[in-house]
Amino acid sequence: MSDYQIKSLANYKSTYQKSVAEPEAFWAAIAEDNFVWHKKWDKVLEWDFAKPEVKWFEGAQLNITENCIDRHLEKRGDKTAILFEPNNPNEAALHISYKELSNRVNRFANVLKSNGVGKGDRVCIYLPMIPELAVSVLACARIGAIHSVVFAGFSSTALATRINDSDCKMVITSDGSFRGDKTIDLKGIVDEALLECAVVETVLVAKRIDSNIQLKSGRDKWLQPELDAASPICAQEIMDAEDPLFILYTSGSTGMPKGMVHTTAGYMVYSAYTFKNVFQYEADDVYWCTADIGWITGHSYIVYGPLANGATTVMFEGTPSYPDCGRFWAIVEKHKVNQFYTAPTAIRALAKESLDNVKGYDLSSLKILGTVGEPINEEAWHWYNDHIGKKNCPIVDTWWQTETGGILISPIPNVTETKPTYATLPLPGIQPALFDKDGLELEGNKQEGSLCIKYPWPSIARTIWGNHDRYRETYFSAFPGNYFTGDGALRDENGLYRITGRVDDVIIVSGHNLGTAPIEDAIDEHPLVAESAIVGFPHDIKGSALYGYVTLKGEGLSKNEEDLKKEINQLIADLIGPIAKLDKIQFTNGLPKTRSGKIMRRILRKIACGEVDNLGDISTLLNPEVVASIKANVL
Ligand code: PRX
Repeated sequence: MSDYQIKSLANYKSTYQKSVAEPEAFWAAIAEDNFVWHKKWDKVLEWDFAKPEVKWFEGAQLNITENCIDRHLEKRGDKTAILFEPNNPNEAALHISYKELSNRVNRFANVLKSNGVGKGDRVCIYLPMIPELAVSVLACARIGAIHSVVFAGFSSTALATRINDSDCKMVITSDGSFRGDKTIDLKGIVDEALLECAVVETVLVAKRIDSNIQLKSGRDKWLQPELDAASPICAQEIMDAEDPLFILYTSGSTGMPKGMVHTTAGYMVYSAYTFKNVFQYEADDVYWCTADIGWITGHSYIVYGPLANGATTVMFEGTPSYPDCGRFWAIVEKHKVNQFYTAPTAIRALAKESLDNVKGYDLSSLKILGTVGEPINEEAWHWYNDHIGKKNCPIVDTWWQTETGGILISPIPNVTETKPTYATLPLPGIQPALFDKDGLELEGNKQEGSLCIKYPWPSIARTIWGNHDRYRETYFSAFPGNYFTGDGALRDENGLYRITGRVDDVIIVSGHNLGTAPIEDAIDEHPLVAESAIVGFPHDIKGSALYGYVTLKGEGLSKNEEDLKKEINQLIADLIGPIAKLDKIQFTNGLPKTRSGKIMRRILRKIACGEVDNLGDISTLLNPEVVASIKANVL
């Protein structure tokens, strides 16, 4: 039997040791003992980071929905699988049992089939956090269609780019969504996007708000009548281990978003194993991750990881501040949540509000707290620990990425130590390494450098959809033979890891990855803009916010600056989404450049961060007069 759940420090140490010494035997035992397979693998792992190629459990056959749903039906069919908490606290929560989930997923899978979707087809899901989102994801997996969930905060242009990149033949959306006391016209956004997407044949529309939207005849269908007419029985498609399960787009430092491709068996094994260990889930626990299923956190730790473990997973439609800033804690009390997993941005925003928002609620059900998505600062960590965990709940600061599919570095609660602002230790199977800028590995403790992973783990993304060269270039070229994360990290005197932030041109704003290049491209679309550069600067709630330096064309100089700022931010909201709007815009008469014409972002970053007297080496700077003027006018 494998040690699926790690319960002591000695157990962690021996498990980790084994996972590094004999990775294949280690993962084979976990896969064998804890999942349902239709056929066992011929080979546990085949890999070559130079190509790059990674294959886990080749030859095996399975369906992930059998592992997430069917196998639980006999033992815990009436247990709540998904506990849906609506945006409006006066609307009743919905307890969807494993039996009911099976019924819903099978019906939905049959609707996909009757609308011409089959194995390998791509389906774009653009939905708010309503049960149909989780159900449609699982329905795709049931029939072997590849889901591509696009976060419902992205604009129509961003949606169209993602639909076209992976040739989705169907879009699943809703008539609208709630945001606090407002509604958003999601279907209108889809309609606009589809003007640019000839590939889409069918749009299924879930009803969520009472709107009077128009369906386009021959293309759009209400979902509910289709579900009502469908059979609740749908045979699972038997999938090969390396068949793609989903595509999920993430920002790159340049150009198009990257459609990260995750495959079936390895992703299932790793997301389930890490869920069990990082959250120490026990049979009757109620687990809540506040992320949106539009991000990887929701895929791995709202849907697949929890359900593969037969857990009860809470799905929340609303926001932390509606109807007031006590909403999270009201939900914890109401559903007696045991594990609570959120983002540092949410913690910082709530910590700014009065403690009265917390005090009235009984949080004694909580056992474990988690954070993800960005570095957590010391102050937020302590607020979380003191006021939410009452110093009684270990905090798991989980470090990972869309590309990694699951958590790679994190404490294991009540097993390994925690340390504020540290993700601490690698989970079993993960071999982190730090490198200096010359590509040399930094051995031993007390080191800081670029964070790489030396050996494949089961849920590493296998490629970028349609662009394997970019996959190689982005992740495997900087430090040959290693997966490069794009993050910097330090290892302290005890070997604990602390993530120090991105070392590339990705900026993390409120936990969302934003590449600078696409935002600059959006700004440059403005007819009066000559050139722009975006950098991040520290922000007490969002972690980082965006600072834009914009040089105008001659005709722009006479325009009202405030109007121009509004126009630029509107352009960004239209082309990417409101999350990419700039907090500060400084108009400049040029940008600092090297002799070869490259923008010296390092200088711009320092100025935006208020370090105007410490610009570092400026020997390659072509135009010092521009820097002097930017410094003089900094916002
Ligand atoms: O910079 C790291 C940061 O988020 C990046 C990955 O973003 P994304 O692919 O959107 O996935 C977020 C959810 C897994 C990483 O490269 N990041 C993520 N978790 C942490 C973090 N930075 C510091 N501490 C973390 N716990």
